[in-house]
Amino acid sequence: MCGIVGITGKDNAVEILINGLEKLEYRGYDSAGIYVNNGNGNDFLVKVKGRIADLKDKVTADVKGTAGIGHTRWATHGVPSETNAHPHISENGRFYLVHNGVIGNFKELRAKYLSDVHFASETDTEVIVQMVEHFSNEGLETKEAFKKTISVLDESSSYAFLLMDREDPETLYVAKSKSPLLIGVGEGFNAVCSDSMAMLKETHEFIELTDGDVVVVKPDSIEIEDKNGKKIERKPFYVDQDASASEKGAYEHYMLKEIDEQPAVMRKLATEYFDENGNIKIEADLLKAIEASDRIYIVAAGTSYHAGLVGHELFEKLAKIPTEVHVSSEFGYNMPLLSEKPFFIYLTQSGETADSRQVLVQTNEMGYPSLTITNVPNSTLSREASYTLLLHAGPEIAVASTKAYTAQIAVEAILAKKLGEERGIEAAKDFDIHLELAKVANAMQTMVDEKHEIEELAEKNLKTTRNAFYIGRSIDYDTAIEAALKLKEVSYVQTEGFASGELKHGTIALIEEGTPVIAIITDEKTAAHTRSNVQEVIARGANVITIVSRSLSNAGDQIVLPDVHPLLTPLVSIVPAQLLAYYTSKQRGYDVDKPRNLAKSVTVE
Ligand code: F6R
Repeated sequence: MCGIVGITGKDNAVEILINGLEKLEYRGYDSAGIYVNNGNGNDFLVKVKGRIADLKDKVTADVKGTAGIGHTRWATHGVPSETNAHPHISENGRFYLVHNGVIGNFKELRAKYLSDVHFASETDTEVIVQMVEHFSNEGLETKEAFKKTISVLDESSSYAFLLMDREDPETLYVAKSKSPLLIGVGEGFNAVCSDSMAMLKETHEFIELTDGDVVVVKPDSIEIEDKNGKKIERKPFYVDQDASASEKGAYEHYMLKEIDEQPAVMRKLATEYFDENGNIKIEADLLKAIEASDRIYIVAAGTSYHAGLVGHELFEKLAKIPTEVHVSSEFGYNMPLLSEKPFFIYLTQSGETADSRQVLVQTNEMGYPSLTITNVPNSTLSREASYTLLLHAGPEIAVASTKAYTAQIAVEAILAKKLGEERGIEAAKDFDIHLELAKVANAMQTMVDEKHEIEELAEKNLKTTRNAFYIGRSIDYDTAIEAALKLKEVSYVQTEGFASGELKHGTIALIEEGTPVIAIITDEKTAAHTRSNVQEVIARGANVITIVSRSLSNAGDQIVLPDVHPLLTPLVSIVPAQLLAYYTSKQRGYDVDKPRNLAKSVTVE
């Protein structure tokens, strides 16, 4: 949530900041702003309520600088407004600050240090910039005033800060704890950003910061102090990604592009995780660590949690390892009794989700081994877990996750197959995952090729509805919950995913004439029962769409899926559901890629 960028040592700082913010808009998009300074006594602050496009419109040709900072906001404290937009300024106009995170004790700090100061905004962030000025007025150098401010923040606070001082306009003061932040390394310039994507046009070399770091960035130097105040050197890493990987190309929306990319992601995983003989490549130490455990705990949020539900089936059926799946925001504060030798798997597209990270911090303290399955190399959860497996899905920009979800399931399947094979489990030995993923890729391709039929179904059944239900049993129930989340988050149709057998225990009361009910039927064992539940809702007036595997289909089914291995059907049945969500949102005229109130990378708890 919230994206920040900074640059020093470039004549076109404004253009770089705006480009960077456009790439970070997925992190929040209710207001935005930049501050730039040209080093000759001219500086500019431009803020708007709205999108980066609105900020761009407001930045006039005379707004120029060689150094600056920028921010795109997802509001936590204070409504989205121009005043609450960052950068925030200190009372006397000397310091400018952008922030990603939350300051837990901002009220106490304000009462203790700033009772005489006039505040312009309702944000927690403004306290920080006012405190820097307060300590600077007491005689501290800027860096010391910044460090002193940070030293009085409470444990619950999270921050990535970028501070500028008008009296030293080529320097960026940077600090990080819990919120992600990278330094982009250039020749004669340096940059700072929440995500490397924001600066890939300028550099591919980045330095990762760890919690407690304070950094002074100038055009020709980067000085890092760790949390103990010790000067340290950190080697940059190379981000091997083309800046254009995050472009929309000919697509109207990222969400559709990313849905369409899923067959290619499956094929990519088949090259990344298999050697030329078709053997799975996963490091032996990771396999040993899981085999030494007596239970897998999958911890994740939102769509990633739903991918974990499918993972539960895969680890139990293929590897015969007892597996539990937990919502991270609950697990950390209400931990169940753990088994004797737990192994933790963190599923997270971004690798930055604060809810999941707070659990990882705890399980690390408890000394338990862990694996992060993520799309973002070097992300916080990747760095902090014992092991990482990558999703290789390419940047996912649309706020609603699609290709990362299916990549998560595929990686879980590969891992489960390998574990099962090592443990001599028959179900795993008989499971030719390489071949099965190829079948999945083809089946997904068939579904995306039929998108226009799904567009028509959305127009007919979902465009004007107030609510909808997805139902399914067993593995199809896992898909139903994810399908419901997709539809509700982008089209604002109130949608619930239900175990179809549960409907009659209460929820069926909500079915009225015309209520859309979408039934997912890919599980042979439960297909007949789900068909009965479909009849029950039809009898009460529901408008039913069925998504059914070919071998279980009959003449009246609307969406027929090519058959794939029974444990991998969620990879295919979710595709029409993603398309239904996409088209419903588009037909309703909503901003598909940036649904209201959401942000892609949720870095607050
Ligand atoms: C919904 C969606 C979210 C994320 C959740 C966790 O489409 O994308 O529910 O899945 O915020 O994010 P990650 O996977 O980055 O930890």
